[in-house]
Parts: sequence; C-alpha cells; structure tokens
Amino acid sequence: MRNEEKPIVVFGGTGYLGRKIIKKLLDNNEKVRILSRNSRKAKIILGEDVEIIESDVTCRDAIIQSLEGVKAILIYLSALNSKLIRRMKQIERDAVLMIMEEAHKANIDRLIYLSGYEIREDVLRKLNIIKFGEIKLEIEKKIRESNFNWTILGVAPSFELFFAFLRNNKMAVPGGGIKPIPAISPEDVGEIAAQTILRNDVGGKRFRLTGPEAISFPEAAERISAITKKQIKHIKIPLVAVKVVSIITLPFNPLIRFIYYALKALNNFPSDLAKSVPEDHQILLKTFTYSPITFDMEIKNRFMER
Ligand SMILES: NC(=O)c1ccc[n+]([C@@H]2O[C@H](COP(=O)([O-])OP(=O)(O)OC[C@H]3O[C@@H](n4cnc5c(N)ncnc54)[C@H](OP(=O)(O)O)[C@@H]3O)[C@@H](O)[C@H]2O)c1
Repeated sequence: MRNEEKPIVVFGGTGYLGRKIIKKLLDNNEKVRILSRNSRKAKIILGEDVEIIESDVTCRDAIIQSLEGVKAILIYLSALNSKLIRRMKQIERDAVLMIMEEAHKANIDRLIYLSGYEIREDVLRKLNIIKFGEIKLEIEKKIRESNFNWTILGVAPSFELFFAFLRNNKMAVPGGGIKPIPAISPEDVGEIAAQTILRNDVGGKRFRLTGPEAISFPEAAERISAITKKQIKHIKIPLVAVKVVSIITLPFNPLIRFIYYALKALNNFPSDLAKSVPEDHQILLKTFTYSPITFDMEIKNRFMER
C-alpha cells in the first residue's frame, strides 16, 4: 500500500468536532476509517465514503483492527453525555493509552490528540475541580514523553456555547460568564485539524485553537442584539445553584457535576490566557491556510441567512 493510499483513523469521528474533521479530510481525497459503536448511525452522519469498524474503543481487538495499515491517528473521544459519563475513565483515558500502546507496536508514527484549550493543573487544583482536567493532563504528558510524531490541539469552546444559554431573547448564564474566553468555529477546528494530520512539520507542537478574540457572555449577548436587532438580555444565575443540583443528582447523574466543573472553569478563565488570544490566533493564521470564521459571521449565519 502506498503511503498516500493508507487511511487515517479518527477515534471519535462521529462526534461534534470529529465529523467536521472527517469532512475536511474527505474533501482532500483522504481515506478515512473510524471506530464507532453504531455503524448505521455513523453512516448517516458521515456518508458512505468512510470505512467504519463497528465496536467499542475499550475493546483491544477492535483497536488493533482499526489501526491496521493506517498512516496517522486522530483522537477526540468524549464520554461527556449522561449515558457514557460513568465510563469516562475507560473511554477517555484507558482506551487512549491502549490506542497509543497498539499504535506503537504497529509502528504508526503520526498521532494527533485534541485536548482542552490549555489545562493548568494549578488553576484546577485551586478551584477544587482537578477532575475536570486530570485525564487530559495525564494523556498530554504521556504523549509528550512518547516517541510519536505528535501534535496536540488545545481546542477552545465552540461558538455554539454562547447560543446554548439563549432562550426567548434571554442569555441566562450560571456564574454570569463575565470573563472573556476564547471561542472558535467548529468548521475552523475541522480545517486546522485536517491540515495538521497531513503535515509533517508540526510534530512535537501544541497549538491553542481559537478564533480571533476572547469574548465574554455579556459581550456575546450585546453582539447578537446588535446584529439581529433583537434585544438579548444577559442574566447571571448563581453558580451555587448548579453546584447544589449537581450534589443532589450526583448519585443518579454525574453529568451535572461535570457541567458544574466546566462552568466553574469558564467563570474563572485565566485573564493572561484570554489576553493572549489574538496572538494565539495569529500563530494559527501563520501556520495553517484557512479563512477564519468570526463570531459575528457565526451570528449572521445563524440568524440572518436562514
Ligand atoms: N459548545 C461547545 O463548545 C462544544 C464543543 C464541542 C462539543 N460540544 C458538545 O459537547 C458534547 C461532546 O461533544 P464531543 O464531540 O466531544 O462528543 P460527542 O459528540 O458526544 O462524540 C463523542 C465521540 O466519542 C465516541 N465514543 C464515545 N465512547 C465511545 C466508545 N466507547 N467506543 C467508541 N467510540 C466512542 C463517539 O463515537 P460513537 O458514538 O460513534 O460510538 C463519538 O464519536 C456534545 O454534546 C457536543 O455537542 C460542545
């Protein structure tokens, strides 16, 4: 098999970002393989051009099969939903380590891992939410210590996050979301990740994937108001309310606890990281070839051009 005919395997290819990355790879005439628990659903999401191995990523034999003859691996597995959250360690940690182990045995060199924007252990410990980032911290460390030709992409929240709190012209945000945070279009993540897989000159690097600016929730509400000409009212809900619900529901539904951690992290986003967003974005523009989608463009796409 010639190298360019070898497939790229994407773990998490049917996910929110995985599908965007695969679309860009297919547009580039790349062969793509995925491992999915449901091939029928995967076919509906990704079409007929993707090779699908139906299995669970926690199964070693399935990993071995999915790695057969591939030229690169991309990992973006997520257990962040109510059905999978109890298996998070098995899926996001143990399976990833197993993929790395088997990829090493199979002499696969190129590995791309999608992680959080930047995971600062000291910040998470101070906020008492280390559980929110500990798996990604451990995996990133293992990747850096490995012999892979690796690239880590630290992905900012998608613009979608700002719209997720919008109901009936009100943006009600637990904790308020007063601090500016980086945000990016999922299309841009797809483009950058696809280019990353295909390049050989970005090995041993970690990039922070963000749009051009850091945005706070009150600012997002103002921008949506200005573009749509509908007044969006920003409302701060006490974060402690989510905390209380997350404690009550913990025995039945650990997902809310995780959402609470995410909201706490978001409301305490480090100011220095927010300040460096334009610079981080410039690095992306210099390194990759794409036309970034801005938050204003995203608002127009959503509300104006329907
Ligand atoms: N607002 C934001 O900033 C933002 C950004 C990203 C994501 N999100 C949201 O966050 C949630 C998570 O998104 P996501 O893309 O990270 O995850 P996702 O859409 O839930 O996808 C998870 C991926 O992991 C795979 N996976 C999980 N467990 C697996 C297993 N045991 N074996 C094989 N594959 C497994 C799934 O594959 P199969 O299901 O095919 O097996 C799927 O491809 C979603 O609800 C998404 O909409 C929000």
